[in-house]
Amino acid sequence: MEKKLMSVVESQQFSKEWLEIEFFPTVRSMETVLLNERSGCKDLKGKGMVSFFYEPSTRTRASFEIAMKKMGGDVIFSTENASEFSSVVKGETLEDTIRVLNRYYPDIIVSRFANEGDAKRAAWVSAVPIINAGDGAGQHPTQALLDVCTIQKVFSQVNNITITMIGDLAKGRTVRSLCYLLGKFKNISINFVSPAVAKMRDDIKDYLEKHGVKYQEYKSIKESIKKSPADVYYQTRPQRERGTAFDLSEDKGAFVLCEETADSMPDHSIIMHPLPRTEEITLEVDLNPRSVYLTKQVECGLFSRMALLKMILS
Ligand code: CP
Repeated sequence: MEKKLMSVVESQQFSKEWLEIEFFPTVRSMETVLLNERSGCKDLKGKGMVSFFYEPSTRTRASFEIAMKKMGGDVIFSTENASEFSSVVKGETLEDTIRVLNRYYPDIIVSRFANEGDAKRAAWVSAVPIINAGDGAGQHPTQALLDVCTIQKVFSQVNNITITMIGDLAKGRTVRSLCYLLGKFKNISINFVSPAVAKMRDDIKDYLEKHGVKYQEYKSIKESIKKSPADVYYQTRPQRERGTAFDLSEDKGAFVLCEETADSMPDHSIIMHPLPRTEEITLEVDLNPRSVYLTKQVECGLFSRMALLKMILS
């Protein structure tokens, strides 16, 4: 990824060098700007963003729109429910929608798509950069970027990390994008903990093997803590909107993070979750010193998205 950053479609597009030399320092500088000047900066003055979401979102949409405004840019059009209130209901294709939005002169389009592969289709016909804010059960590359930023912030690097990914690994797009991104770093080990019906898909396992990333599958969080203690525990929720029917709490707590399980994790470890959280992390874990999912990880979302917009637009 040596040339100028344009669209953000999938995590594989980023190189380790770009992440370490350009992205992480820009994220840190955005954090400094925001914390020192609470009003933000004016780097994106005169730039306009279209925010077009076909699926619900709290964090991704809010943080992109706030990032744009904090840097002096405008959100020139925003819709949170394009699946119901855009002309897709009348049969308009994604390609036509993107071509038309291009004619309203945005500088960037941030979109959450309903189907895997839609981000690529949109980027293919768009003259302005497209940011994939999640495409069905496919990928969520900006989530993976903020996730590695969180890991880098806590451990000062992303190499030499063991991470345990828990939950709906078959349909969760955040873990897929995170695996692709972690495959760029050195000496990464991944533990997968999920019900049999929600195992990580083979395309990701093939990618990890090709990139020399060791992975192992476990039947419960407790078993993984005992056999392969990790630096990062990355919990995810059942993707009910994509047809996932199992209840994580049914299996004797094998996949639910509770206080007792959290306390048995290595002292230096952190607990992450892309959110929203449902039944898979009990509320008392929020107060565990390892938990970063409602604090650092959320903030890294804003700083990372500010950095991305600045790198693409300014
Ligand atoms: N993590 C994440 O994508 O959250 P939202 O669905 O609220 O954007």
